[in-house]
Amino acid sequence: MSLSQETITSIKETIPFINKEVESVTSRMYEILFTKYPETKPLFDATTGDQHKKLAGAIGAFAANIDNLAVLGQAVEKMAQTHVKTNVKPIHYPMVADSLITAMGDVLGSDFSEAHKNAWVEGYTFLANILMQREKELYAQN
Ligand code: HEM
Repeated sequence: MSLSQETITSIKETIPFINKEVESVTSRMYEILFTKYPETKPLFDATTGDQHKKLAGAIGAFAANIDNLAVLGQAVEKMAQTHVKTNVKPIHYPMVADSLITAMGDVLGSDFSEAHKNAWVEGYTFLANILMQREKELYAQN
């Protein structure tokens, strides 16, 4: 599976808005995640406090490299390793998707159209599938 040109173009349109508000989007995402899905909170127990910055960076890198995802290879491996260490499972991915997309809508307002939303759902799902696949392999090795 790969992302359509239409999806890539739509995600790219949101990059300037996200870059401007990336810290707000990420903070709002965690607020929604921990309120709506409190079962995800213990996964972050051992975090160092700069998780917001890491995730914000990952979102930006993903959007910036959306038409050249190969450059994200190393970052994907690091994310998968960290996720396995902190016991992230496939069941958690839709929770983060819901929280992230809702947060983008909350923070970006009318700059985040229905088409942008659909494109981000597709883009997130694409990356989530790559991560879940790698994490499945890593869990099987443990
Ligand atoms: C496409 C979706 C996701 C992306 C792009 C993403 C990205 C990242 C990144 C970049 C890191 C830092 C990795 C490192 O430098 O060690 C990370 C760590 C982490 N992620 Fe994710 N993640 C995703 C999904 C999830 C999900 C579904 C959960 C579970 C609720 C989750 C929970 C965590 C936790 C607990 C950490 C460790 C926190 C820390 O090291 O401070 N992530 N993620």
